[in-house]
Amino acid sequence: MPLCDTPKLTQLLAPIFEKHGRDPTKVLQILREVQETTHCICNDAIDQIAAHLDIPRVRVEGVAGFYSFLSGGRACGEYRLMFSDNITDRMLGKQELMEYFCKKMWIEPGKLSEDGLLTVDSTSCTGMCDQGPAALINGRPLTNLDENCLDLICELIRSHKPVAEWPAMLFEVQDNILRKDALLGEAFEPGAAIRATLKRGARETWAEMDKSNLRGRGGAGFKTASKWSFCHAAVSEDEGHVVCDIGERSERVMVCNADEGEPGTFKDRVLLNSYADLVFEGMTVGAKVVGARRGFLYLRGEYRYLLEQLEGVLQRRREQGLLGTNICGEAGYDFDIEIHLGAGAYICGEESALIESLEGKRGRPRNRPPFPVTHGYLGYPTVVDNVETFACAAKIALHGGEWFAAMGTPQSAGTKVLSISGDCERRGIYEYPFGTTIRQILQDCGAEDAYAVQVSGPSGTTISWKEFDRKIAFEDLGTAGAFMIFNRSRDLFQMARNFSHFFAHESCGFCTPCRVGTTLMKRIMDKVNGGHGTAADLEEMKNLGQLMKSMSHCGLGTSAANPVLDTLNKFPDIYERRLKALAFEPAFDLDGALAVARRITGRDDSEAHLRAES
Ligand SMILES: Cc1cc2nc3c(=O)[nH]c(=O)nc-3n(C[C@H](O)[C@H](O)[C@H](O)COP(=O)(O)O)c2cc1C
Ligand code: SF4
Repeated sequence: MPLCDTPKLTQLLAPIFEKHGRDPTKVLQILREVQETTHCICNDAIDQIAAHLDIPRVRVEGVAGFYSFLSGGRACGEYRLMFSDNITDRMLGKQELMEYFCKKMWIEPGKLSEDGLLTVDSTSCTGMCDQGPAALINGRPLTNLDENCLDLICELIRSHKPVAEWPAMLFEVQDNILRKDALLGEAFEPGAAIRATLKRGARETWAEMDKSNLRGRGGAGFKTASKWSFCHAAVSEDEGHVVCDIGERSERVMVCNADEGEPGTFKDRVLLNSYADLVFEGMTVGAKVVGARRGFLYLRGEYRYLLEQLEGVLQRRREQGLLGTNICGEAGYDFDIEIHLGAGAYICGEESALIESLEGKRGRPRNRPPFPVTHGYLGYPTVVDNVETFACAAKIALHGGEWFAAMGTPQSAGTKVLSISGDCERRGIYEYPFGTTIRQILQDCGAEDAYAVQVSGPSGTTISWKEFDRKIAFEDLGTAGAFMIFNRSRDLFQMARNFSHFFAHESCGFCTPCRVGTTLMKRIMDKVNGGHGTAADLEEMKNLGQLMKSMSHCGLGTSAANPVLDTLNKFPDIYERRLKALAFEPAFDLDGALAVARRITGRDDSEAHLRAES
């Protein structure tokens, strides 16, 4: 049962408050821990947090209501089971398994069981697509779910066994690395890249980064050396000072974006699990180059299970003199990294929303300019880079820019780590030089009957079988890493529909084209799915998609229509065969919606109904 009676709550909150002090940027971390401890965020908890941090209650409430892993005012069960709802989980039977489990436990999805023990729900992709169907139970990952596994989970819940005491085999997560290249293939000695940086010098290391042509691996492909130099220049060009939220100080911040919320992407999870030293080393090299003393790893809430392990790596690195003050004996080379956990919000992967979240706020994308490189975390010049980008940076510091630039293509240097899932024999992690064809990748992972590939997740591109000679490269198919394969037996309409639900759920609601556009798109897709779609609906989706692309405030809204637009263009038959012959049927039943008004006014005559147009 939720533990919200006031004396008990005060007792439970005390260690959380002690750990985080009175720093308002810690609101989200405090709320997360309250949720973990009490299984709910009740009004009393919100009052106590606001009083402790000396901030308005409405701010705490606003944060609690924004993140999907925080229950807001709703109580969750002592056990909270959330099934990953990516299309690849669905292809592996997620929906049927969730129904099976709910039936067994006599529970409705989204509702608290009568005994207050359990809540079952769906959540956006948990980043385990190579070992789905996947789920989270009280934040811990469950993979390869089947009925036997769920039977065991039912028993464990019914016997009130704490999740910490459940059999370890339930929580096994595999790396599944199936192809290694320059980044993953070579053993890395912690400290080697830092020592190479110190030997070469910060400026010269930047020159190597520049020469390497490394472009960000988080999706947009911005040149990393340029980003680092803008951040560095934001202070030095201003004679060592920038005006920040907390005064005028010359400081810069390095942030590693491990939000990895794009459905179908899971390579950052593997990098953090097995290559954390490489990632932290890249951040530390970057800190030397731009002159940062503070670093954050923004870890998505779904990867909470990696937290202790990553804290352990950071601690070891401090003990090895690879973090902290006078790193590797170099006077004034001070840098440390803090881990900040997200709480289930895809938009927090967008760099300015991520910074808002780091500051303990709702993850709402900022207006730009100014860009984070000049005005980021608390106003400090801030570099936000992807996990894989930092891993590449460490390798470049070690081996030099030319070594890196010699791999891949002239516009896309180096290699790309892909997360491969869907219809193939060998799902997992594959590292390829840029320029590799889709056909080659499909052959390697055993996707013989591939019909389409969703490259770079729902916000990316749908590739038909006619385009399998295209290449993974910024100049052709740029990607943050997701590679979801669909064979001929799959209904691509359901893929596009799943993605339209995803975007409607994840839109932060700040701007109208995205908030309304994603919801309308979802509704029209549902209407077509229900057999009520008409040719006018397809036109409507095309127009709506263009409007969202051109008018939305951030990358979520500008890319949310991609799957529908791509499939309408490349696979029109999946829509056309579902259409009704009618030219138009409204998506919204206006006459039905007026039923309440008719009841209140006591009218049900024909004039009180909308007439159907002939
Ligand atoms: C909605 C949205 C979600 C994003 N999610 C991520 C993410 O999970 N990880 C990431 O590295 N970049 C993500 N990005 C891109 C970041 O905004 C940013 O460009 C990236 O972290 C920069 O790092 P890079 O230069 O190393 O690629 C996202 C962008 C948008 C619009
Ligand atoms: S485009 Fe969508 S996610 Fe981005 S700010 Fe607007 S509503 Fe929020």
